[in-house]
Amino acid sequence: MQRVAIFGVTGRMGQSLVRALRAAPNFRLCAAFASAASGRLGSDAAADGEPTGVPVAADAAPHLAGAAVAIDFSQPEAVAAHAAACGAAGVPLLVGTTGFDAGTRRALDAAAQRIPVLIAPNTSVGVNVMTRLAALAARALGDGYDVDVAEAHHRAKRDAPSGTALALGEAVAAARGTTLDQVAVYERHGVTGPRPPGSIGFAVVRAGDIVGEHTVIYAGEGERLEITHRASDRSTFAQGALRAAAWLIGRPAGVYGMQDVLGLGERR
Ligand SMILES: NC(=O)c1ccc[n+]([C@@H]2O[C@H](COP(=O)([O-])OP(=O)(O)OC[C@H]3O[C@@H](n4cnc5c(N)ncnc54)[C@H](OP(=O)(O)O)[C@@H]3O)[C@@H](O)[C@H]2O)c1
Repeated sequence: MQRVAIFGVTGRMGQSLVRALRAAPNFRLCAAFASAASGRLGSDAAADGEPTGVPVAADAAPHLAGAAVAIDFSQPEAVAAHAAACGAAGVPLLVGTTGFDAGTRRALDAAAQRIPVLIAPNTSVGVNVMTRLAALAARALGDGYDVDVAEAHHRAKRDAPSGTALALGEAVAAARGTTLDQVAVYERHGVTGPRPPGSIGFAVVRAGDIVGEHTVIYAGEGERLEITHRASDRSTFAQGALRAAAWLIGRPAGVYGMQDVLGLGERR
C-alpha cells in the first residue's frame, strides 16, 4: 500500500481521486489539502460516501511526512507552494493543475532538483496517445495543411485555452520545427485578414458540464483530417493520475511528462 497525499481534495478532481482511491488496491489516502479559506477544513476528505478517516487540512508541511507521492489538482496560484512543500519533504509530486505561470514553472523546476515532478496537464491516457498522434500527423502531412485546435470544457473552468489544447499545439509546432509561441493565434475577431501561413489557431467553448473535448484539425486542399478526444467522466483523469503516480514513485529527481509514463516518447 502506497500512501498518497492530495492537494485540492475538495474540488471536482480531488473528489474524483478520492472515489478512485476506494477501488485502488495499491494506494491509501494519507493527507488531504485545500486552501486556508476552505469551508471543509477539518472535515473528512470524502465529501460523500464512505469516509476516508483523513481530515482536510490547509498547511501541508506537518502532514506530508510518510507520503509516497502527492497529487495536485488545485489552482495555479497554489502550485509553487505545494512544490516547495513536497521538495522539502522529499515527496514526489504529480501536478495535474493547469494554467500556472512561468514563475510557478521555475518553482517546479527548482523542486525537481530534489524530487521527481510529473507535469501532467492531462492525465487521461487517451489524450496523451492523441498528443503523439497529433505530432505524427503534423510531420506526415507537412506544411500544406493548416492546423487549428478546438476545445470545449464546463462553465467553471478558469483557464483558456486548456492546458491540453496548448500541449497539442506545442506538439504540432515542435513536429514542424518551431515553437507554439512563434505561431499561436489565440484570438480572431473583426477583420482578421487571411490566415498567416504556418499559424496554429485555437477555438474555445465554455458551457454546461462538458468534462473535456479536444480536436486537432488538419485542413489541406480537398481534404480534412480531425483527431478528436472526448472525456465523458472525470474518473478517466483520476485513473490516469493514479497510474502516473504509481510510475513516479522511486524515479530519480527531475521533470517528467505523461509521455514518459506511457512510453510514448521524448522527455519534456
Ligand atoms: N490534468 C488533468 O487531466 C486535469 C483534469 C481536470 C482538471 N484539471 C485541472 O485541475 C485543477 C483543478 O480542477 P477542478 O475542476 O478539480 O477545480 P475545483 O473543483 O475548483 O477544485 C480546486 C481545488 O483546489 C483548492 N484550492 C483552491 N484555491 C487554493 C489555494 N489557493 N491553495 C490551495 N488549494 C486551493 C480548492 O479547495 P477549497 O476551495 O475548498 O479551498 C479545491 O479543492 C484545474 O487547474 C484544472 O484545470 C486537470
